Amino acid sequence: MSPSNETTVRRTKIGIVGAGSVGTSLAYAAMIRGTATDIALYDLQTAKVEAEALDLSHGQMFAPGVRVEGSDDVAVLKDADIVFVTAGAKQRPGQTRLDLAGANTAILKSLMPQLVEQAPQAVFVLVTNPCDVLTVVAQQITGLSHQRIMSSGTVLDTSRLRWLIGSEAQVNTSSVHAYIIGEHGDSEFPVWSSASIGQVPLSEWEVDGRRPFTTERLDELKDQVVNAAYRVIEGKGATNYAIGLAGVRIAEAVLKDQQSVLSVSTVLEDYYGVSGVALSVPSVVGGAGVGQQLRIPMGEPEKQQLRASAGTMRSSLHDLGF
Ligand code: LAC
Repeated sequence: MSPSNETTVRRTKIGIVGAGSVGTSLAYAAMIRGTATDIALYDLQTAKVEAEALDLSHGQMFAPGVRVEGSDDVAVLKDADIVFVTAGAKQRPGQTRLDLAGANTAILKSLMPQLVEQAPQAVFVLVTNPCDVLTVVAQQITGLSHQRIMSSGTVLDTSRLRWLIGSEAQVNTSSVHAYIIGEHGDSEFPVWSSASIGQVPLSEWEVDGRRPFTTERLDELKDQVVNAAYRVIEGKGATNYAIGLAGVRIAEAVLKDQQSVLSVSTVLEDYYGVSGVALSVPSVVGGAGVGQQLRIPMGEPEKQQLRASAGTMRSSLHDLGF
């Protein structure tokens, strides 16, 4: 085909900081889904990051057109369109995500300026926990607009909830409309008042003539979501596949400018009276990052839970000096 007829592919680049189980799961998922043309892994562990990139590249025949690099030099992230931060201390069995705040804040203080220098136009996504607290830390360290710094927040928790509801209701997860919002952590909560399957309120859904989603059952489902990570960590030491898929979902919304509604975490401004902390609420995610934060209908008990989640975040930020 003559050069004039060749279609030029716009190159899109995902940068991933941390070649651990989360970062490499994110890279693997992005490669399989063709989320970007270029995937760059950055980690200080030279042998590890190079081997991960090599292993992924060996599969390129099955994911043509995706280039994977790995380096201990932060310059590998140069001009990335979106950068995921997955590096840092991980939850050990029995640890809460907030227990990691001090150690991971220290990492961000040196890391964020380097990332912005390499990818000055990027949208940044914190995956490292406590991701909501670190979103505020990263925003204040870099001074970037709230739009361009988010965390994966409760995108993963919302997926966990929808999987549980879909399984019980015997419907496809894509037909379940329910959100977990607030902290990606112990104070997160489902917005039951607006949860539905199709257009049917969850409380009215019937399976074999009975309504399974009683108040007691909803409490059990919430508990399963809030404690999901602890259960996986107890069994395999870490979570990685689902968070990797959640990250790729966010990357696709940004890189393809999808304007998709996702429960990412960004700094809130007067959201039902909550300001100055990052929490997950359904938000429009597109090429510029996070746009409108949707003021979804909420009952007073849910607003109280949101304010409680905000208080937990504010307390952690205060302890960190932010
Ligand atoms: C989890 C980690 C990503 O919830 O916080 O699996």
